[in-house]
Amino acid sequence: MCGIVGYSGFRRASEVIIESLKRLEYRGYDSAGMAVINHGITVEKKRGYVSMLKGEMEGRTGIGHTRWATHGEPSDKNAHPFTGCTGEFAIVHNGIIENYMELRKDLVKKGHKYASDTDSEVIVHLLEEGYAEHKDFKKAFFEMIGRLRGSFAIVAVHRGENRIMAVKKESPLIVGIGEEENFLASDIPAFLSYTNRVVIMEDGEVCELDPDGISFYDFQGNERKKKTEYVDWTPESAEKSGYEHFMLKEIFEQPLAIENTMHTLFSNDIDLPYYGRITIVACGTSYNAGITGKYLLEKLLGIPVDVYYASEYRLRPEVRERSLVIFITQSGETADTLVAAKIARKRGYETVGITNILGSSITHHVDHVIYTSAGPEIGVAATKTFTAQLAALYYLGAALGEKYGILSQMKCDEIIDEFRRVPRLIEKSLDYEGTIKKIAQKIMNSENMFYLGRGMNYPIAMEGALKMKEISYIHAEAYPAGELKHGPLALLKEGVPVVAIVTRDETYDKMLSNIREVSARGATVIAISPETEIENYVDYRIPVPKNSAMFSPFGNTVAVQLLAYHTAKLRGCEIDKPRNLAKSVTVE
Ligand code: F6R
Repeated sequence: MCGIVGYSGFRRASEVIIESLKRLEYRGYDSAGMAVINHGITVEKKRGYVSMLKGEMEGRTGIGHTRWATHGEPSDKNAHPFTGCTGEFAIVHNGIIENYMELRKDLVKKGHKYASDTDSEVIVHLLEEGYAEHKDFKKAFFEMIGRLRGSFAIVAVHRGENRIMAVKKESPLIVGIGEEENFLASDIPAFLSYTNRVVIMEDGEVCELDPDGISFYDFQGNERKKKTEYVDWTPESAEKSGYEHFMLKEIFEQPLAIENTMHTLFSNDIDLPYYGRITIVACGTSYNAGITGKYLLEKLLGIPVDVYYASEYRLRPEVRERSLVIFITQSGETADTLVAAKIARKRGYETVGITNILGSSITHHVDHVIYTSAGPEIGVAATKTFTAQLAALYYLGAALGEKYGILSQMKCDEIIDEFRRVPRLIEKSLDYEGTIKKIAQKIMNSENMFYLGRGMNYPIAMEGALKMKEISYIHAEAYPAGELKHGPLALLKEGVPVVAIVTRDETYDKMLSNIREVSARGATVIAISPETEIENYVDYRIPVPKNSAMFSPFGNTVAVQLLAYHTAKLRGCEIDKPRNLAKSVTVE
């Protein structure tokens, strides 16, 4: 996955491009580059972060790229943009060109010379071929599209023109509309400090843009009318606003993210038919939200809920069942989830997408869309989008319970009342940051950790372990607490930190005996619990506020997020950009 941008207007393009790319670095950060139109085309590209670019070039039109390597190692030569043999065009690409090998062979036969190992470079050589024949940028661009197979968002410029051509197919691309300037980017935060008027490009669309106008076409060249949308994200929402890291800011934004998500949920009708079974499909953190959803929806609706990793769902044979299939993806662009959604639809299931991104790819592959409104999430580790997904699932549970006649009106109202108090619950949990920082100091040098939970808090233990792994690089595993004695207990050694999520419900006594088991083997036990009594059994306690067991995942999530954050910070890790990871994974 990569981030791409385009700018044409009255400002110095290189400055706009660098600023925009910095906001897209969550999408990839192993190399960066830009190309600006001036007397010719000036290119600067390098392995490393966007901040390594100098951007000292004149010119009002240009394109930029921040890369997460798929084809070809991260290096200066594999960084985008590519300018081909003649240097007349520059292109940036996000996605995968599936037939690049055959195109490359064909173009090499025609005398084209390659400067990189990437699939993307074929694009610029194809443009050169088309231009040699038609002497027209637009014609060459359409011809190039016709030769490509795979997924692509491409932005291209031509020497001597302030026009940008762009295309979208299965990789995101958004147009930003300004006054005498226009923008293109993989995601809205890239240009949010200049405009909040956007057009969301759909698959199979081409855009032609200069400072004075924008036109859209289908792949056959027929003009298309598009709707302008206004996003209510503020420029500050894509800034760190005084926080040391985006991740910390996003953890603290959770009360607002949930409030905004509630507002969106309450103002949209959820009208989903009854199938007597629900299947949830997702990856990573969204999968953990899905498992929480399973516990919750089974409890509220009394119907079976299965949860699949998207990459595994596709391997599932066609089975005879009637099920509503829910895809959870904050970015709406995760390749595995999109493939799974296409398979489910092909098999005739009614499908729902839960996403944080307006008009993202998943919205085109499902029958119903439920939006969360967590605002832009820049830190690679998902935080506020996770709790916003939980919010959507809780609301879904109550709304479907009422619609299907499973929950009484009174029960529904009770749930919604408590649901409305979640932002306050999260605020109170954030107050324990000081305690968590101190605990982080005790565990910062660990090599291994365990997270334990039961019932609805088992997936929160999974989420805690995932957060710890991805940002602090400590090996952390989550188990349903009862499973520990069936094998993993053998790994416990003196001083290994064990985080136990202990809630006052039917799991409480069992959790206590599991804690005794691990303490007896010398583990350092950290309990996340509202119960003071627990202090008699553990080394440290994170005192999350008292709450009903059903809503406890929200406060507990905040605790595991902050513990991972502060541990990673003490270990000096790159918190917002963990090694080898990118925000949305657009390759299968
Ligand atoms: C972890 C994380 C990833 C994503 C996963 C799915 O912090 O961010 O595990 O949750 O890649 O991404 P989406 O939700 O965009 O489909």
